[in-house]
Amino acid sequence: MTELTSQKDAALAAISAADTLDALEEQRVGALGKKGWVSLALKTLGQMSPEERSEAAPAIQAIRAEVADAIAAKRQALEAAELEAQLASETLDLTLPAPDTAMGSVHPVSQVMDELAEIFADLGFAVATGPEIEDDWHNFTALNMDESHPARAMHDTFYFPDKAADGGSMLLRTHTSPVQIRSMKEQGAPIRLIAPGRVYRSDSDATHTPMFHQVEGLVIDKNIHLGHLKWTLETFFKAFFEREDITLRLRPSYFPFTEPSVEVDVGYSNEGNRRVVGGHGDEPGYDWMELGGSGMVNRRVLEFAGIDPDEYQGFAFGLGIDRIAMLKYGMNDLRAFFDGDPRWLAHYGFSPFDQPTLSAGVGARA
Ligand code: PHE
Repeated sequence: MTELTSQKDAALAAISAADTLDALEEQRVGALGKKGWVSLALKTLGQMSPEERSEAAPAIQAIRAEVADAIAAKRQALEAAELEAQLASETLDLTLPAPDTAMGSVHPVSQVMDELAEIFADLGFAVATGPEIEDDWHNFTALNMDESHPARAMHDTFYFPDKAADGGSMLLRTHTSPVQIRSMKEQGAPIRLIAPGRVYRSDSDATHTPMFHQVEGLVIDKNIHLGHLKWTLETFFKAFFEREDITLRLRPSYFPFTEPSVEVDVGYSNEGNRRVVGGHGDEPGYDWMELGGSGMVNRRVLEFAGIDPDEYQGFAFGLGIDRIAMLKYGMNDLRAFFDGDPRWLAHYGFSPFDQPTLSAGVGARA
């Protein structure tokens, strides 16, 4: 009995010292578990004479009850402490006042991408995406830019050390045009899509950043011609700049993936130190500004993408999103787009509640 009493004292001390639920459980198993010392003591009752038992049984039961009570009390205390700690770390004071002004804003690039999607959706275009880490074949080869094409030079393109499955290089896409290839291979013809996204070139000054944004356009169907391209771009720019006096000039150019290729210029005038789109570039006081590249998809590109060029033709265009955002909203330094300065974002950003819609105006300013 004296041995049991000292075991009990040791156990009560260990229980009160237990500072985690795990440590407490260890004590419970050691005392009350199948092979615990209390359970073993209870088993000895069977071998006792009735007199011995009538004396020992209540004593052992009392010890069992004392240990069990101590464990239950300690468990409650530990659980309460755990809950307190959790509540303290997760406080949320619902009585705090809301900030006077909205804290975040929609970046002009995101805004313009939403405007593009809205305007082109109305013309029946889907929005497509592709990977920013692209392989050589989609970015260059399938776009009719062979091994010796100068755009593949190290100083123009960011390459990765690892190779693609076909042994070609992996790189940061230099334009959104590889999405043309991916979409044509995936869905075949006919196609009507835009593909806005980030592109990368090894280039950096006031008007070039190593990462910038483009939107690709692609239409593949039967009997598509340059007139459709010009109408589509004109209709887009009228909706985007929200004015009817948009004049486009298509200027012969060269891209390996389009034939014929044209650069798209728009008439503009200067108001103060700001360029304002609108008017005819040849009129006095007006000039032409280049907005992007385009052309009829080269038949070799259609072949690379698995489309029969004798059955289907189409046009493609690529516009700089940052560029048209600057023109529409009046910023003059491209680098500020990517500085993350909250003052710039507060000034040029948009309210998240102000979704661009054709009926309410695609460029509505909060
Ligand atoms: N991918 C070209 C560029 O980045 C733009 C372009 C797209 C030209 C589609 C023609 C057709 O400069």
